[in-house]
Amino acid sequence: MTIHSYAKLNLGLKVLGKRADGFHDLLSIFQEVDLQDDLHIDVDPGGDLSVIADRDDVPDGPGNLVYRAADALRLRAKRPDLGALVRITKRIPSGGGLGGGSSNAGAVLCALNHAWNLRLPEAELAAIGGEIGSDVPFSVGGGTALVTGRGEEVQPLKIVGDSPTYLLVDPGFSVETAWAFGSVNIKLTSEGPYIRFLNSVRASGEVALLDFLETVENDFLPLICARYPSVQRILSTLEDSGALGASMSGTGATLYGGFSDPQIAEQASLILERLGYVTHLCTPVRRPGGQPDP
Ligand code: C5P
Repeated sequence: MTIHSYAKLNLGLKVLGKRADGFHDLLSIFQEVDLQDDLHIDVDPGGDLSVIADRDDVPDGPGNLVYRAADALRLRAKRPDLGALVRITKRIPSGGGLGGGSSNAGAVLCALNHAWNLRLPEAELAAIGGEIGSDVPFSVGGGTALVTGRGEEVQPLKIVGDSPTYLLVDPGFSVETAWAFGSVNIKLTSEGPYIRFLNSVRASGEVALLDFLETVENDFLPLICARYPSVQRILSTLEDSGALGASMSGTGATLYGGFSDPQIAEQASLILERLGYVTHLCTPVRRPGGQPDP
């Protein structure tokens, strides 16, 4: 069996405060986009669990989130005898704020729950995922969601109206998540257009994606811009090229612009590629009701 595992973008990211457990409370819209890894899964009734990735910067075996997710799943189901061989074809860059490892873990929880015939409900898969990494609960249902808490509170959203085309730009460096959380300046603002927009989204359960791109705020941007001056130049280039809004995903370093017209997004990608950056054109992945895609 081969399944897809999608990158996620943070359409804004507010850090609300540090928690007693050392993690931070967040507020963000998470959006799956069609930049994908492939997971090739062979169920092994003999009980061995093996995970192999095709890229040197992604660990094989127990160091991989896929291994940890599959192992946690079989233990939760009290079936330590179950096994699988998972081969990962990577396309999502690492250290880019695109949640590639978390997405792989969420996808394997859904796939093995089915292939091992465990029938655990999605909420339980998300709870297992939360022990593996903060972004994994979202990846179990995917699509578009309002995400709060440490990442474990996921409200799936219905998209109304047209979906943007996203142009992702790799600025050529990566950011270590724990460093970013340890260095971020937490501003306790409860107002502003982005927060007001999120409050209305929370109440309605719907989001018009083209309407709020220009209000998107990421609290990690000042930190990353101060360290890497090229970030501001890339964001300005995206906006000057016709993006409705441009920001950074997660703690970085991937930058993106949201465009209403795919052709304008394609022209912007040519401009950024000529400046020497690797880009990806993506569209949102829709999973109505938070259900895994078939
Ligand atoms: O959960 P995950 O492994 O993705 O988190 C990596 C690091 O990011 C954590 O060790 C923590 O330092 C930080 N983090 C945080 N608050 C979150 C998510 C991550 O402080 N909500």
